Amino acid sequence: MVVALCGCPSPKKPEAREPLRRDPHSHAQPERVAMRHLTLDLVVDFTTRTVAGTAELQLDRRDRTADLVLDVDGPVVERVVDCATKQPLRHTLGPRDPILGHALAIAPASDCVRIAYRTTPEAAAFLWVEPAGTAGKRQPMLFTQSQAIHARTWIPLQDTPGVRFTYDAAIRVEKVEAGVRPLMSATNPAAASPDGAWRFRMERAIPSYLMALAVGDFAFRPIGERTGVYAEPSLVDAAAAELAETEQMMAAAEALYGPYRWGRYDLLVLPPSFPYGGMENPRLTFLTPTVITGDRSLVSLIAHELAHSWSGNLVTNSTWSDLWLNEGTTTYVERRIMEALRGRAYADTLWYLGRRELEAELGELPQGARDPDSRLALDLDGTRDPDDVPAGAAYEKGSLFLRTLEHKLGRARLDAFLRARFDRLAFRSTDTRAFERDVAALAPAEADRREIAAWLHDPGVPAGAPPSTSARAAELERIAQGVARDGAVDASGWNTLDWMVFLGVLAAQPVSAAQLRALDARWKLTASPNAEIARRWFGIAIKADLTEAAPAVEQYLTTIGRRYLIKSVYDALLAAGGSWRALADAAFDRARLVYHPSTRDTIAKLLGK
Ligand code: BES
Ligand code: ZN
Repeated sequence: MVVALCGCPSPKKPEAREPLRRDPHSHAQPERVAMRHLTLDLVVDFTTRTVAGTAELQLDRRDRTADLVLDVDGPVVERVVDCATKQPLRHTLGPRDPILGHALAIAPASDCVRIAYRTTPEAAAFLWVEPAGTAGKRQPMLFTQSQAIHARTWIPLQDTPGVRFTYDAAIRVEKVEAGVRPLMSATNPAAASPDGAWRFRMERAIPSYLMALAVGDFAFRPIGERTGVYAEPSLVDAAAAELAETEQMMAAAEALYGPYRWGRYDLLVLPPSFPYGGMENPRLTFLTPTVITGDRSLVSLIAHELAHSWSGNLVTNSTWSDLWLNEGTTTYVERRIMEALRGRAYADTLWYLGRRELEAELGELPQGARDPDSRLALDLDGTRDPDDVPAGAAYEKGSLFLRTLEHKLGRARLDAFLRARFDRLAFRSTDTRAFERDVAALAPAEADRREIAAWLHDPGVPAGAPPSTSARAAELERIAQGVARDGAVDASGWNTLDWMVFLGVLAAQPVSAAQLRALDARWKLTASPNAEIARRWFGIAIKADLTEAAPAVEQYLTTIGRRYLIKSVYDALLAAGGSWRALADAAFDRARLVYHPSTRDTIAKLLGK
């Protein structure tokens, strides 16, 4: 690819004028009426597992005669009034679409409507955690997960990443003991107001999928000037020690891509039922406790969620068809942050692992590398829940595309390009089309543009991607191949990444059960407290029918709810069949109420339940 960097300022801001493509996962019609500020006044009730109160929406009416159309899936709408006159407004709830939920159409009135509503206990965004599911075992907990299209299950709003709004909230918590407090993706108060409500403000415009609330017995420890961690009291010191590098990560990211624009960056460590590794809720990343390993070995996940403060939260995919813009860019930035912190060799190993993950995920698609889901720019319609779309390409092919550009353009040029986009598109939503146009300006040759188009629109991984090699990984590959001969390995001094690489390669080796037992006796893999190591080891142990691992596998599946971790273990159990399949069914039956609805749905589908 031959390219020239155009140093000239971009001539206009086309994104400001060009209407975004319609979002097939929302009923909203923001080109007519769009929300621009949300005020929540809610009561959280743990006894009924409901949230009730009002949502007030301030509007931009581009078409004064048009209805305001919202997404609602679950919330029972009790009343809709004009904020100013308090007059009831005519509104109609459309039929429920199984993926999108209902359209709530509200007749035109002033620029503010107030909706009184209550959620149902089944709201898909919520996980109500019993005291037994927490570290402290005494207080219940609640947390939300709004991405991709679950915000509509707890707030009536325009649930599309193409619409942005600011918000404030007053949250009251009913019938719980002292210590239990709410936190949001916003400015978090140190204490409740004298009237008992906790008050929150988000002054930067965000899309709905970043609406987040957690209620629990949370303590706080500062990490640095702008960073800190919330967690249950018994975990908070360990969490602060694990996450101590967060401030350095921010500095590394800012040096690359410009100022952090959200004020504080805090982290909230949730119980093991949290369905993801992390969720980039603005100002307050939600985190799985499986990162608290004691040795900071999985903190690339923090780099990832922090990176979303630029790619995703600042510049947002306008629909879920362009998830790669959020996740691919973030994965690229994550590895650049880790390179700044841990050095080139470490980052190379992350790239190596990512590449293997990509190959594995492509292999699992029905049509392999020719599968349409392996494209970066998808053309999803409303018949698929974005949660059910395999995202391997968005993360790993997306980041590999940027790495390819880095190799072709040089680091300085790619960084300047990314940074300029973060600045120019800050607090906006954008799509692959705009990205393609911008990147074309860097690559004027016809052949380059064709290559870029292939990356963005064709399935599979184009030839010409740089190899994701790592000297350390190559060494571990040789070691893993050696195990097949004598079952012995000297792993003293290995770090978690070493184990992840080694076990990944070992999984494909013809190793006997006896050799694996020798390995386990020496290195205690079945008992590994590291969820990433354990998951890979369990895959191997299940395939080799090491039945003594069964209790540890069951323990893992009934305590951890992180979807991607346990899905791979369930996959291995299904592939093994027999008593392993029975274990999968039993574990799911025991854990289903502990899992978050999104994990529960994924595993239920897998098991055919
Ligand atoms: N935003 C995602 C989680 C997500 C994606 C939720 C799509 C719902 C729909 C988050 O940033 C993420 O990517 N989490 C990963 C972290 C990992 C790649 C470091 C996870 O949970 O595993
Ligand atoms: Zn992400």
